[in-house]
Amino acid sequence: MSDHSLPVLLTAEQIRSRVEELARRIDADYPDGTLYLIGILKGACVFLADLARAIRRPVRLDFIGTSSYGSRTSSSGEVKLTKDLDVTIEGADVLVVEDIIDTGITLSYLIHLLWQRNPRSIRVAALLDKPERHQRPVTIDYLGFCIPNKFVVGYGLDYNEEYRGLRDVCVLEEGGGESIPARGQRGRDSEPV
Ligand code: IMP
Ligand code: MG
Repeated sequence: MSDHSLPVLLTAEQIRSRVEELARRIDADYPDGTLYLIGILKGACVFLADLARAIRRPVRLDFIGTSSYGSRTSSSGEVKLTKDLDVTIEGADVLVVEDIIDTGITLSYLIHLLWQRNPRSIRVAALLDKPERHQRPVTIDYLGFCIPNKFVVGYGLDYNEEYRGLRDVCVLEEGGGESIPARGQRGRDSEPV
């Protein structure tokens, strides 16, 4: 039973099983050693918490904060650093964990910033991607689902700080339109859900 009335795009179960698949790939891809998961606040915190527990190798966690959206549903095109890392990442394998890639502006800004700190590697895990919206070239190494160009909330994603606690990813519709049923058991990187 759902705890809200918004149309569901991805169910908690679809997300759980996809996170598990991504974690198995991450485990297989990295050499032995600690992996630094860097979550982009605040939206990525739920995805990061699940990913960190699904990955079997040792992980360390840190967070970086950006803001560009305020209470609007499209990017202002400017990124502001609101919280920096607490740790040094020099020589480290870094996996940046993001909730959703929209224009790609946040991610490309952060990747540029993080490379200046001399990590050994930087890869990106993103739960969601809206490929139609990209304005910057972005490489997502571990992608949960491609989604259509709709504003979504839940599983950490917000609108004006609301809805982050929903277990499903839902479509936010101002006037409450018709339901968009969740499709398929698993999203693949190249297939829209
Ligand atoms: P970008 O810089 O345009 O790629 O925006 C990335 C950030 O915008 C994400 O980390 C989210 O915080 C936010 N964002 C983009 N699209 C959505 C959405 O559909 N729902 C909620 N937040 C979003
Ligand atoms: Mg975000």
